[in-house]
Amino acid sequence: MKAIHVLNGPNLNLLGTREPEIYGRTTLADVEQRLAQRASSREVELVFRQSNHEGDLVDWIQEAAKAGAGVVLNAGAYTHTSVALRDAIKGSGAQVVEVHLSNTHARERFRHHSHIAPVAIGTIQGFGVLSYDLAFDALCALGEANKKS
Ligand code: DQA
Repeated sequence: MKAIHVLNGPNLNLLGTREPEIYGRTTLADVEQRLAQRASSREVELVFRQSNHEGDLVDWIQEAAKAGAGVVLNAGAYTHTSVALRDAIKGSGAQVVEVHLSNTHARERFRHHSHIAPVAIGTIQGFGVLSYDLAFDALCALGEANKKS
């Protein structure tokens, strides 16, 4: 995998101050910095983005798929509502790992369903900011495994 696009959905720009008892005190800029270090040590290009707008995420998923980049996607609340994001992944063939900071299954019932999960390679959630690291590593490992096979 030459490039990995890390796409963040609504309200993730508030990380650090938003419900810190659930999401912790790490900011999105900190997450980006951690992943930038990881990317440079693995010689992978990192694209890191956040938007509060569903259509931006649709465009970015399509863009990543076209570029043959892997995607780490934290779609935030759109995870539970967005058929458009699901269709973007399915329709473009994007290789997506779904991530969440919190364990959505241990939270309110409306967070238990994900439109992303059925079209993702897999889901990593509940590990705080470590969820991003694990998803990033999973995509790198898959890229290596695909090279060998
Ligand atoms: C989240 C979980 C979602 O249910 C919520 O709407 C978010 C953040 C997470 O990372 O834990 O915005 O995706």
